[in-house]
Amino acid sequence: MRRIEYKTDAQLAWMAKAGVVTSRALDAAVAAVAPGKTTADLDSAFREIITANGATSNFLGYYDYPAMICASVNDEVVHGIPGPRELLAGDMVSIDGGAVLTDPATGKTWNGDSARTVMVGNASAERRELSEITQAALWHGIAAVASARKVGEIGVAIEQFVREETGDKYGIIEDFVGHGIGTSMHMAPDVLNYAARDLGPRLKKGMALAIEPMLVTGSIETHVLADDWTIKTNDGGDACQWEHSVAIHSDGIWVLTAEDGGASELSKLGVTVKPIPA
Ligand code: MF3
Ligand code: CO
Repeated sequence: MRRIEYKTDAQLAWMAKAGVVTSRALDAAVAAVAPGKTTADLDSAFREIITANGATSNFLGYYDYPAMICASVNDEVVHGIPGPRELLAGDMVSIDGGAVLTDPATGKTWNGDSARTVMVGNASAERRELSEITQAALWHGIAAVASARKVGEIGVAIEQFVREETGDKYGIIEDFVGHGIGTSMHMAPDVLNYAARDLGPRLKKGMALAIEPMLVTGSIETHVLADDWTIKTNDGGDACQWEHSVAIHSDGIWVLTAEDGGASELSKLGVTVKPIPA
């Protein structure tokens, strides 16, 4: 059984630094999105910010993964490898990436992990809605961390929001889940993005969790391409992902991969974030 890594506030403060670098690198990748750009261009923009901040990438070299981001277009769900594919007006691309910073005092490495979905030019209202609902679902899952008792209540909150808002219109992917994060990118516990009977471990101070709902317009069945990474929907329906890394510190919650800790989005849901105590 994998053990959960509980962090001190000082360690979570390091994670927040890695989270801000992750967010700024994603800002750059998002800014690079335009018709005619390749998914490799997004990776280059991301890479520049990672390097400029003295950070490294937790994706690059992970099971030999060859890039710093995953760029998953339209019916690609996750883990799309950046390359020569040109983005076309009307496409939708999910960009997933993470920064790692090393605390020189301890030698420990602290990970961020976050994903956003961006429209290329004028995408359809259907694609824009899919992304808006997925993003809102993420924030409802994050809000649950502030008041829930168990990790599984995050997925319950995500699914409840999606069903109340859009009925059975969208599927929530179950083949891939969120995770604990800290000195490694993928750690215990699993963080389901959908409702399940087993609510898993208690939410406790010191936890850091990556929450990453993936919504689809059709069936939730997926397959992996011949490149051994890219995951696509079986029926060719669109897929979308948003992700943040979230900390439970001694005074409340803080979204590590948002520059404002998630304050602006969570205030709309009646949740107050608190800075990590120094
Ligand atoms: N970032 C993904 C996740 O959210 C993992 C990507 S693994 C990689 O958990 F190898 F593709 F980088
Ligand atoms: Co993740």
